[in-house]
Amino acid sequence: MKQDQSSHTARFVSNGIYWVSQHERLGIEVPEGLASYTAEITRCRELSGALLGPSLARRLLLLKAGVMQSCAIPGIYLHHVLRKRYIESLAREALGTTMTQMVVIGAGFDTLSLRLSVDCPGHTIIEIDHPATQKVKRALLEDFQLPAGSGQFLPADLASETLASALARCTPYDPDQPTLFIVEGLTMYLEESTVRDLLACIGDQARGSAVLFTYMEESSPGCYDFQNARRVTSWWLALRHERFTWGLKPADLPDFLSESGFSLQAHRTPEELRLELLTEPNRHAKLTSGENTALASAST
Ligand SMILES: C[S@@+](CC[C@H](N)C(=O)[O-])C[C@H]1O[C@@H](n2cnc3c(N)ncnc32)[C@H](O)[C@@H]1O
Repeated sequence: MKQDQSSHTARFVSNGIYWVSQHERLGIEVPEGLASYTAEITRCRELSGALLGPSLARRLLLLKAGVMQSCAIPGIYLHHVLRKRYIESLAREALGTTMTQMVVIGAGFDTLSLRLSVDCPGHTIIEIDHPATQKVKRALLEDFQLPAGSGQFLPADLASETLASALARCTPYDPDQPTLFIVEGLTMYLEESTVRDLLACIGDQARGSAVLFTYMEESSPGCYDFQNARRVTSWWLALRHERFTWGLKPADLPDFLSESGFSLQAHRTPEELRLELLTEPNRHAKLTSGENTALASAST
C-alpha cells in the first residue's frame, strides 16, 4: 500500500459491514456489538462534519457502498460479516479459556479489539497496523462515543519491519503469555516470504499461542481473486497499490503450516459459514467465495 495513505480496502470492508447492518433484509445477520461499533466508527470517519449533513451523507454512503459492491465483487460484504463473526467467536472462546493476550495484525477499521478490550478486562489487547491506517483510526477514536477499552496501538509496516521487531517495541506485550494473533484480510497483500516470516515469529512466541487468519485461495498459478470478482476489481486494487500478491490452495494449507511449525485446528470456507451462521431467510443470499478462515496452533 502507499506509504502516506490509509488503506482503501480497510475502509471498503468497514463501509461494507455498515451497509449490511443497515440493509432491510440482511441487517439481522450483523450482531448488535459489531453493528453498533461499526456504525459509530462510520459516523466518525464518514459522516460527522460532512458538508451535506449526516443524514444525506449517510444515504449517499450507503448508495455508493452498494454500487461499489455490485461493480466489484457481488456478495463481498456478507462474506466480510461472516468471516468477522467466525473470527470473533473463536477469539472470545480463546480469551475466555487459554489466551491472555490478543494481537490483531492489520486491524484496519475493524472494531473487534475495541470491543474485546472492554469485555475482557485483564487481557492485553494490541492492534498492529500500517502507520498510515493506524494514524487515521486513532484520530477517529478521539471522537468515538462508545467504550473503547484500553487496547494498545502499535504502528508497523510489516513489509519493511518484522513482527518480532515491532513486538519488541511494545512494552505491554508479554512474550511469556500465550497469545492469539489475528491476521484478517492481510495475507493477500504480502509476499509469501513475509507470510512465512510472520508465521515463524508467531511460532516463536509463548507456548500455546495460535494464529487465526484468512487467506485467498489460489485458483490457478499466481491467481488469487474472489470467485465472482469483476475485472475492474483488480484494476482498482492495483490503482490503490493494494493488489493481491499471495494465496494458497486449501489442500496445500496443512503442509504450508507444518513447514512453519503449525498445525491446522479449524478451517471454514464462506459456503460453510453460510450454512453455520446465516438465518433461514438469508440462507440463499449472494455470497462471494475465494477467501477462507483458518485457526492454527504452534505444534511444539
Ligand atoms: C483489507 S484491510 C483489512 C482490515 C481488517 N483486518 C478487516 O478485516 O476489517 C487490510 C489491512 O492491512 C493493513 N496492511 C496492509 N499492508 C500492510 C503492511 N505492509 N503492514 C501493516 N499493515 C498492512 C492495512 O493498513 C489494512 O488495515
